[in-house]
Amino acid sequence: MAETVELATTPRNLPFNLAGQAGLRIGEGSAGGGPQVFPSQPTSSTDRYMQLDLEPFYLDLSFMAPLSEARATRLVEFLSATLAGTIVDVGCGWGELLIRVLEATPDAKGVGIDLDLGSIEHAMSLARERGVEERASFIMGDAKDQLPSVSQGAICIGASQIWGPPVEANLPLDYRSALTAVRNMLDRGSPVIYGEGIWTASPTPEAIAPLAGRYDEYVDLPELLDIAGGCGFSVMQVHQATLDEWDEFESGFSARYARWLKANGPDHTDASEVRARAEKQSNAYFRGYRGVLGMAYLAMLAT
Ligand SMILES: C[S@@+](CC[C@H](N)C(=O)[O-])C[C@H]1O[C@@H](n2cnc3c(N)ncnc32)[C@H](O)[C@@H]1O
Repeated sequence: MAETVELATTPRNLPFNLAGQAGLRIGEGSAGGGPQVFPSQPTSSTDRYMQLDLEPFYLDLSFMAPLSEARATRLVEFLSATLAGTIVDVGCGWGELLIRVLEATPDAKGVGIDLDLGSIEHAMSLARERGVEERASFIMGDAKDQLPSVSQGAICIGASQIWGPPVEANLPLDYRSALTAVRNMLDRGSPVIYGEGIWTASPTPEAIAPLAGRYDEYVDLPELLDIAGGCGFSVMQVHQATLDEWDEFESGFSARYARWLKANGPDHTDASEVRARAEKQSNAYFRGYRGVLGMAYLAMLAT
């Protein structure tokens, strides 16, 4: 069995950077048939976690972030109120928020970019089911290389690591580089949702241990607001995920272990590994960063 790198259930520490395959372009949302998948290397949300056949996160989560339905609705309303043109979702996952924005804004177009083919494929199938495929493009690739030069709106949730050092380097999260890259592609006045991890209490040794092991990995909310202002944004709404949103997110993240154990039974050769992962994750959160690592969502205008 290959070594696993699945560590902490945080937006930053999810091992997405291991999906790795860059540069595939998927679909253009053009008239006549909607998005298409161009030749690809095989990858999926199962094989990136070694050979364990874990089911995809989207079976248990609407978003790969601690984000409730009520808050998602408010974020979509904010974007939709002023969006005129194309909105880009960097690190879009399976594109749920982007698709909701397109549903709420009939004249808008959307571009979702993510490294993970399984997520992009699911995004495309959701876009078709929801009737927005003609206005949605999904690109599998590194958002650093795939950003359009100009756009009129942006979503960046749990994806700042795209512009910072690799997650394995265990360095502080580089909020500034992410916000600067997003700002650079936006027309003035464009609406943006930026969602990112923050400390919501003083970090403890138990909290940082399963994360990057450092007290300066994240900033607190006031500092994040300063950084956003310094990068050319004016904040209109500040949201902070509640403990309920976190518990739901962590539960959804770990549900795949229970699914696997139910499907394969306790005598399967990998059962002890799956139980160990579930326990590690549970300890990391419930004995570690629960209530200390938070998540902020800033609804902003590029100014
Ligand atoms: C925590 S998830 C958030 C997904 C989505 N924004 C959501 O809220 O549901 C972070 C996403 O960033 C993607 N990602 C990480 N590095 C990336 C990169 N360099 N380029 C594009 N996507 C990347 C991951 O594959 C993952 O889907």
